[in-house]
Amino acid sequence: LWLLGLIGLASYVLGSVPFGLVVARAMGLGDVRQIGSGNIGATNVMRTGNKLAGALTLLLDGGKGAVAVLIARVLAGEDAAQAAALAAFLGHLFPVFLGFRGGKGVATYLGVLLALAWPVGLATCATWLVAFKLGRYSSLSALIAIGLSPIYAGVIGYLPVLAVLLVMAVLVFIRHKDNIRRLIAGTEPRSARKGPKQ
Ligand code: G3P
Repeated sequence: LWLLGLIGLASYVLGSVPFGLVVARAMGLGDVRQIGSGNIGATNVMRTGNKLAGALTLLLDGGKGAVAVLIARVLAGEDAAQAAALAAFLGHLFPVFLGFRGGKGVATYLGVLLALAWPVGLATCATWLVAFKLGRYSSLSALIAIGLSPIYAGVIGYLPVLAVLLVMAVLVFIRHKDNIRRLIAGTEPRSARKGPKQ
């Protein structure tokens, strides 16, 4: 049990690292909490106009979740992997390093999901991409993809991860309540299309 506790704590601390803030600062883009939505996630780092910083944030915020799950699995098996997934995800939402004011959890959700059940993770990422291509809303794409992911887990046959996914998905939706309000009001900003600036 002490091993499980240690894995949970380490995963939480790793999940707490706000890579969006770190990357943006390191690349001289300022405090990402002062721009756009004020969120520390990849979408908002993208709004600095620096695509590399946004991509790095996505990779690192997702990667920290995946790494926590993979290490826990090697050390202590599948139950520990699930505990690590939840702990890392909670770290991102409630980071010890930022007074427990963290992000919305999309990248970290995708990272832990890819490590817990990669076919479900791939289906979820593909759903995000399709939804984004159609609507250009990062938040809506995340809500659609993450909302569908527990269903994918059921259909593809990853029933043991369902409880953890549902808890995390509900938290993602709660974290997006302002986005949901804006989407309904028609005021949620869309991301610019690729190619030359219009
Ligand atoms: O990953 C968070 C995304 O879904 C929305 O972010 O900055 O547009 O509120 P943001």
